Amino acid sequence: MQQYATFDESIKWVKFPILNNHMKKQAVSATEKNAKQKTSDNTAIEASKLMKLFEDELKDIYWAEKALTKAIPKMIKNATAMELTEALQSHLEETHEHVIRLEMVFQIIGKKAVAKKCEAMEGLIKEAEEIMEECDAGAMCDAGIISAGQKVEHYEIATYGTLRQFAATLGLADVASILEKTLAEEKAADETLTTVATTAVNVKAASEEENDEEDNEKDTDPGEIDEDAEVNKKTEKRENKKNRVRSVFISNVE
Ligand SMILES: [Fe+2]
Repeated sequence: MQQYATFDESIKWVKFPILNNHMKKQAVSATEKNAKQKTSDNTAIEASKLMKLFEDELKDIYWAEKALTKAIPKMIKNATAMELTEALQSHLEETHEHVIRLEMVFQIIGKKAVAKKCEAMEGLIKEAEEIMEECDAGAMCDAGIISAGQKVEHYEIATYGTLRQFAATLGLADVASILEKTLAEEKAADETLTTVATTAVNVKAASEEENDEEDNEKDTDPGEIDEDAEVNKKTEKRENKKNRVRSVFISNVE
């Protein structure tokens, strides 16, 4: 037996059965319509939130790419191995292209190309500069540059992977395709650096390390052993170099 919420309601349904069935259908239809409208509104809100996040990330990587067009030439200047210089030169040209592609993306989504300072990339570039300042030119410095360069590439790979996915979710197929192209180039650049490290740089850097240790044995000659500060400084420098070589080997193994 049908249950009614109130006495008036029970009277209404009993007295006007035909009209009431029509009203019921209308009520159900209105409820469904409202539910659909609500879902549609929620989807639109979620899409606009995702678009906002997409734009923010885009501005961030735009700043990063522009900063890299200035940072990579410094790496090229400090690199010694021809293979490394060529790899960096090639990626510098790609990086200029990445900036142009991002400007295309801004244009497609109807937004002005604006760069927002990327704290992470600023930190990675600063780290690269410190490595170059501390290192003497040669294989060890090359290993440090590769280490810093690969950290940059990994950041870019993560960012472009995310942006491409966001673009696909937002239904921006053309944008996703542009970002995919850049993502592939960042991955290739990372792989090239790994190859350069394993074939041309790390072995030389490791042998430089051995030579340094031999030199340090001479440095700790009893005649000079009183110069504690100098010895400590050299030990610290040697440990820093060891850690850098280790990090390059570890990143290559991973
Ligand atoms: Fe790039």
